Amino acid sequence: MIQNQWYAVLSSHKLKPGKPVGAKRFGMKLVFFRDEHGAAACVSDICAHRGASLAGGCVSNGNIRCPFHGIEYDAEGKCVHIPSEGKASKIDFSRFRLKRYSVKEIGGVIFVWYGEAEPEREPDVFGIMTDPSYTYDHTEDCWNVQYSRVIENQLDVSHLAFVHRTTIGRGNKTLAHGPKVEWLDDNTLQTSANNEVDIGQSPRPSSECVIKDTNLTFKYPNMWLNHVTDKIQILAFFIPVDEEHSIIALRFYNRITGVKAVDKMIAWMGSRANRIVEKQDKRVVETQEPKKSSMGMREKLVAADRPIMEYRKKRAKLQKE
Ligand code: FES
Ligand SMILES: [Fe+2]
Repeated sequence: MIQNQWYAVLSSHKLKPGKPVGAKRFGMKLVFFRDEHGAAACVSDICAHRGASLAGGCVSNGNIRCPFHGIEYDAEGKCVHIPSEGKASKIDFSRFRLKRYSVKEIGGVIFVWYGEAEPEREPDVFGIMTDPSYTYDHTEDCWNVQYSRVIENQLDVSHLAFVHRTTIGRGNKTLAHGPKVEWLDDNTLQTSANNEVDIGQSPRPSSECVIKDTNLTFKYPNMWLNHVTDKIQILAFFIPVDEEHSIIALRFYNRITGVKAVDKMIAWMGSRANRIVEKQDKRVVETQEPKKSSMGMREKLVAADRPIMEYRKKRAKLQKE
């Protein structure tokens, strides 16, 4: 994991008012709920009393109540009521405080700050997430690898002709030119596939390649955007569950007709296609050893792996910082 980052960890539509949602993230049991104003909150899902999961409890007046003995915590993780002590209790409950996590919600995505320090910046997001002209459909799936493997797969341009030979990789374009990798800013890298059928030509170096209109952009620590056309874009975020599991969340955005109901239908169909492609990736990536990637690992990379190398280098730098 990279410390001191905002991670996209949950789709907003999963967090309804009044109903806590338990989720393993960063290897920890967390619970999400909405306070009385509807703002998302996140605290440890282990009750300070005797360890029951708060996710099985309920939310009342913006506080989360443990299902075991009814102890209540507010959105800051502060214990506000212990039923057995009575409503009139004057006891100091501060030793019952739960660890709480800073939360932001942008464009239907809930972000959690993972790190020791307090957040000193906002989550780095794609403009499309808050652009009302687009409509999207959301789908997600759990993979048995660390999130770094899922990210690298989404930056991998030379697997298309093999893993996706029946879908987005049709045409036997096995030879990979470049690929070019550009840093749009300190936190954002962009690349695009530039593959051809192998007729004996040599792959061009990345310096002779360009980023095409259909391209991939990645923002640390865990968001990705496939710009297909101006009207169709696919957003993904790679949710770290633990060191061997992650959730890939995929959103098909479009503004093809500009009519919301029609675009919604198109997005729904786009999601079905996303799922087919995603399953093709999952089948192979889950077999990779080891289950997470790092700079010093013993893989023999090729020129086509340049985006992956760039991802690893910057990740290692951020981990060190
Ligand atoms: S374990 Fe939560 S109230 Fe007792
Ligand atoms: Fe793929």
